[in-house]
Amino acid sequence: MTAKRYTLTAALPYTNGPIHIGHLAGVYVPADIYARYLRLKGKDVLFVCGSDEHGVAISMRARKEGKTPQQIIDHYHGLIKTSFEDFGISFDYYGRTSDHIHHQTASDFFKKLHQQGDFVEQTTDQLYDEEAQQFLADRFVVGTCPKCGHTEAYGDQCEACGSSLNATDLIDPKSTLSGSTPTLKATKHWFLPLDRYQDFLKEWILKGHADDWKPNVYGQVKSWLDDGLKPRAVTRDLDWGIPVPVPGGENKVLYVWFDAPIGYISATKAWAEANGKDWKPYWQDSDTELVHFIGKDNIVFHCIIFPAMLKAEGSYVLPENVPANEFLNLEGQKLSTSKNWAVWLHEYLQEFPGKQDVLRYALTANAPETKDNDFTWRDFQTRNDSELVAIYGNFINRILVLTHKYYDGQVPIPNDLTQVDRETLQALRDLPVEVATSLDAYRFREASQTMMKIARLGNKYLADEEPWKKIKTDPERVQTIIHTALQVAAVLSLVSIPFLPHTAEKLRRLLGLPQQANWSELSQDEWLTPGSQLQKPELLFERIDDSAIETQIEKLQNT
Ligand code: 2FM
Ligand code: ZN
Repeated sequence: MTAKRYTLTAALPYTNGPIHIGHLAGVYVPADIYARYLRLKGKDVLFVCGSDEHGVAISMRARKEGKTPQQIIDHYHGLIKTSFEDFGISFDYYGRTSDHIHHQTASDFFKKLHQQGDFVEQTTDQLYDEEAQQFLADRFVVGTCPKCGHTEAYGDQCEACGSSLNATDLIDPKSTLSGSTPTLKATKHWFLPLDRYQDFLKEWILKGHADDWKPNVYGQVKSWLDDGLKPRAVTRDLDWGIPVPVPGGENKVLYVWFDAPIGYISATKAWAEANGKDWKPYWQDSDTELVHFIGKDNIVFHCIIFPAMLKAEGSYVLPENVPANEFLNLEGQKLSTSKNWAVWLHEYLQEFPGKQDVLRYALTANAPETKDNDFTWRDFQTRNDSELVAIYGNFINRILVLTHKYYDGQVPIPNDLTQVDRETLQALRDLPVEVATSLDAYRFREASQTMMKIARLGNKYLADEEPWKKIKTDPERVQTIIHTALQVAAVLSLVSIPFLPHTAEKLRRLLGLPQQANWSELSQDEWLTPGSQLQKPELLFERIDDSAIETQIEKLQNT
């Protein structure tokens, strides 16, 4: 953690549908926790994302809804952007790949590689739908995966085994446009010869990142490299996308996975323009740490293809880490946009208004970090009722109520400390260090549980010390207890900022603490000084009724 600046990227979501809890759990909540944590540490952080508005996924949605691709992207871009804002995902810039600045940046990138001779031009036979009179790339074709036998693999990727495929690799391909079996037709494309980067990738990742990349990421990369990389087409015969900007590129567009990751760079440029900054250091200075937050289906693109593109271009830094997550399932089944098996964020907020942090917490506490995990509504309810309400909220409410009752809401002066007080104060120094260690290693789940340990500590301290039984007999002791418990609340309010931003803001307001905080304050001896005035108690969390949970389960059953 010594870089001069941090460029954090979160996968650009396709604007072919709204976003759901799987997106939030796998990518955006961990990325946001990390961004907020680094900002708290006073680091120079740029956190970018944007809408991925090209590719077959968009064209297919447009066909399905009888709309133009432009109508589709405009609609979902708005919806997705609002969901991110609602959930407190603190991007410094949220761009769009349909923006002019992105078209320009991606075009220039392609032209530079073209001029440098980094592509191989090849005419090959590609799948063609005679009925639709269209070449079939990527999601326009499904078939059996040659690697794992999954029968619904796409033309560019098998979602079952994660293999990256070429459409012509599929066994028994079928057009998703007409359902017909495609024929083969010759067409010219530009290929990125990934085989040329094989040695560099082996050296950089297999040797250089064996210890600090997550085993799931490292393992996938190793298996691709062991299989041997092949040239990969970076252009397509489609009418929706960024035009191929070199002679012979008429009626062809850039492959969506060529342009999308460049979207991180264009978002940086747009941010820099809007804020009077220079974008270059965030991508081209060796003192910058680049981290890509993604889901496991994006590993090959961020660990192999994009780095090969950056390496070929020559002036960019490479990612320091790619902490990809596994998938989140919903009530035992794979989340699916097309099958509507999902909890959509905009619907969640209509049904649970103001409860963004509850979902953030439930998803982090059960994050699919090392294996696929299941989200169930019952577990969500338990996380809320038994942890956020019964521990975190209960502790804060008790200490605020007691401080008001005994001291008109003013922090009391402590007297002599007992062993328990000293241990409690010591834990307040140790637990944030544990949280930081977990966050530094991208272990968000573990970090969230250590944050909850701080709330547990406060809750148990008050329950054990029982100030309400001593207020008459030993008021001096009660001053010390309330003072100590308030220190726990103050530390909790700071450590919660990355995880529960809305709650932390409210809690800090109630405690009379500034919203602007720094992680280094955690090494102070005291966080709330005697005499400071607290505000009137307000509940941070409330129980969720069984009926609300049953409604959600029924809604899914009717899908
Ligand atoms: O898998 C997806 O949803 C892609 N739209 C992610 C793109 S990430 C990046 F490279 F832009
Ligand atoms: Zn497969």
